[in-house]
Amino acid sequence: MVSKRIHELEYAIRDIAVVANEIQQKGKKIYHLNIGDPVIFDFKTPEYISKALSDATFAGQNYYVDSLGVPELRKEICSYEKSKNDIDINPRDIMITSGVTEGIFFLLAGLLENNNEILVPGPTYPLYINYSRFFDGNPIEYRLDETNNWEPDLEDLRNKITDKTTAILISSPNNPTGVLYDTKYVKEIIDLAGEYNIPIISDEIYDQIVFEKEYVCPVTLSEDVPIIGLNGFSKAHLATGWRLGYMYFYDPHDNLLELKNGIEKMARARLCANSIAQFAAIEAFRNPGPHTVDMVRKLKERRDYSFQRLKQIEGISIINADGAFYLFPKLNLEEFPKWNSDREFVVELLRETGICTVYGSGFGDFGEDHMRITFLPDIEILREVYDLFEDFLK
Ligand SMILES: Cc1ncc(COP(=O)(O)O)c(C=O)c1O
Repeated sequence: MVSKRIHELEYAIRDIAVVANEIQQKGKKIYHLNIGDPVIFDFKTPEYISKALSDATFAGQNYYVDSLGVPELRKEICSYEKSKNDIDINPRDIMITSGVTEGIFFLLAGLLENNNEILVPGPTYPLYINYSRFFDGNPIEYRLDETNNWEPDLEDLRNKITDKTTAILISSPNNPTGVLYDTKYVKEIIDLAGEYNIPIISDEIYDQIVFEKEYVCPVTLSEDVPIIGLNGFSKAHLATGWRLGYMYFYDPHDNLLELKNGIEKMARARLCANSIAQFAAIEAFRNPGPHTVDMVRKLKERRDYSFQRLKQIEGISIINADGAFYLFPKLNLEEFPKWNSDREFVVELLRETGICTVYGSGFGDFGEDHMRITFLPDIEILREVYDLFEDFLK
């Protein structure tokens, strides 16, 4: 016996790995392009950050810390947000979480019940859909328009606001499309939220991984619309396995006080986030290092290479990514009559070539007929992957 809520939980990014493991056990080489983890490729956690983690454990900082996070770390995050994004957040309005994942869990637990709705981009990072349902909420996808560079379709967004809408999610740079919403769209979403008195959730985990365009933090575009920001250490600081993130509340008129107090209760109930990772993160903020900029430079080359290769494949259309580390090509399945769905395509690609990607429908209804592929590996590996991919289609 298992509850309905667990029975129905799905997470395509890792579910596909189950098929990959099966095939790997038969001795086939697998290319793990399904998961956005830079650390399994040639992006390593900087030594000084690892050293700070080991120093923390040897210094005996292995105890439960404040449920909201180590105070010095919360202060460092405020300074960082001020210097990078020019926003003023009070340490009291920051909460350290076990990855952005826990932040999403807390927020949706606090906002949703009885089929309340949350507006999420479509396609979207699947956790927003899955956790919304887990809490008896209803994730409603607003369309990202593939014919307009995956920018949000504001008409669609407006039409989907109801009296059950509890929040609008902005996830930019977006997973899986890679779009960095143009500032004018972000501003319009915030204005729309203001008009209907709805808070914004802003998932900013890829804010430092942008290529040509400049990232603009949504808070700088809001006068009094409350925004809950989510960010973390997994991607920019190459520490995916440490499970460390944070949530901040920009809430000039205290509209979200009840929600914030509720989430703080949840944080206390789970004791605290990883203590030694928090002490190491203080060091990462005080001494920023070149690792993020180096990663973005390498990623840009890898994105360009992957984009060029995919663009040349017949039956595939593709929009380039502004940020993050994914491409989300469209599979024109009428040109590939052998496969009835993106899922069938992706599973057979995996079985035949060992290339593990994620089927687009795992990212919600608007993801159908697509696949997500990461460009994290180095060019040599990417060359092998795209050669195999082309052979497979031939
Ligand atoms: C948009 C988005 N949000 C959140 C996460 C989870 O991040 P964390 O490792 O901080 O839990 C991911 C991971 O891929 C992501 O793509």
